[in-house]
Amino acid sequence: MDPQNTSRKRIAVIPGDGIGQEVIPQALKVIRAAGADVEFSEFDWGADRYLRDGMTVPPDGFAMLSRDFDAVFAGAFGDPRVKTNIHAKEILLGMRFQMDLYANVRPVRLLDATLCPLKDVAPKDVDFVVIRENTEGVYIDAGGVFKQGTPDEIAIQEDINTRKGVERIIRYAFEYCERHKKLDGSPRKRVLMCDKSNAMTHAGGLWQRVFKEVAGEFPQIAAQHMYVDALCMQMVRDPRAFDVIVTNNMFGDIITDLAAGLQGGLGMAASGNIHPGKTSMFEPVHGSAPPIAGKNIANPFGAILTAAMMLGHLELTKEAEKIESAVLAAVLQKKTTQDMGGTLGTREAGEWVAERAST
Ligand code: NAD
Ligand code: IPM
Ligand code: MN
Repeated sequence: MDPQNTSRKRIAVIPGDGIGQEVIPQALKVIRAAGADVEFSEFDWGADRYLRDGMTVPPDGFAMLSRDFDAVFAGAFGDPRVKTNIHAKEILLGMRFQMDLYANVRPVRLLDATLCPLKDVAPKDVDFVVIRENTEGVYIDAGGVFKQGTPDEIAIQEDINTRKGVERIIRYAFEYCERHKKLDGSPRKRVLMCDKSNAMTHAGGLWQRVFKEVAGEFPQIAAQHMYVDALCMQMVRDPRAFDVIVTNNMFGDIITDLAAGLQGGLGMAASGNIHPGKTSMFEPVHGSAPPIAGKNIANPFGAILTAAMMLGHLELTKEAEKIESAVLAAVLQKKTTQDMGGTLGTREAGEWVAERAST
């Protein structure tokens, strides 16, 4: 590390498992090609390491990431050899919870009409963002199993919603709406809260009350509401209905895979796990995709767009824009992997984007 260079951004890289190990190197290549002043330190946290010596995250690992790095860039975690998924839980959910990365920001953008499974939908029609609560809900894994293995077995999975947690994610969504523009340059204008308060009245009631309260602080932004089931239907009927969506951890997980389908599949979806002012973590939305791992066929664009998102967050705006336009060019010229209708491999698609981003 060069102590003289204070503007150089330090990035911890954790490729993880499966296709994470293939797409992350492509994204690093593109970041370098775009000329970003960054320094990478790679960590081998993931299934191989866990199976070798039992380590998931070293003691002090999360504090080290927050202290020594400006951002974390992660691949995917999940391996069929680790049946309990314990390493993924400890590494991925560990970062989200221990580093308090409460806002999982998942932009949904269609780069080219041919990628969308819906008919008569243009890129301008799919341009929304999901702000997913990232530190609470059923993901806390509170609860227990009683009388396991007997006919009387009981499984309890608690849904934890704190006033503080709900308020900060809703406020984040309104502030995001205020600060961000759509791809065509027009302002964002609407925040929609998605819940299931007709059935889950305790948690839903809290979300409803806090949403109304916080919305009152932002009179220029339209506050809307939908139940999560109706929202899923609407998302495939007419994605134009959405601008900024805010929701809880689990609904956010589910609707962002659905939304990824509108963008051309999981291979195109980017995300950031953010706590303003703290070291944040960026990862593609997709997982380790074991069936396609190791074959050089995974789409690296989700990881590359995630890299652009990370650089934007680190205020390396010029480099982020270069990367985004290089991916757009690749999509328009079909320099893509097979899932997107192209003929390139993971490495070749990454190489094409890197070349383009370097000019
Ligand atoms: P997945 O996202 O890994 O893959 C689902 C399917 O989507 C794949 O089989 C593949 O057909 C397609 N796909 C995903 N990414 C792609 C890409 N880049 N290019 C082309 N096609 C792509 O979801 P899954 O199969 O449910 O989960 C596999 C493992 O990954 C599990 O262990 C799961 O827990 C884990 N997972 C991890 C993360 C993460 O680390 N952030 C996210 C989701 C799933
Ligand atoms: C995601 C993933 C994770 C989640 C899994 C791997 C725990 O699906 O990042 O979307 O549910 O958050
Ligand atoms: Mn998911």
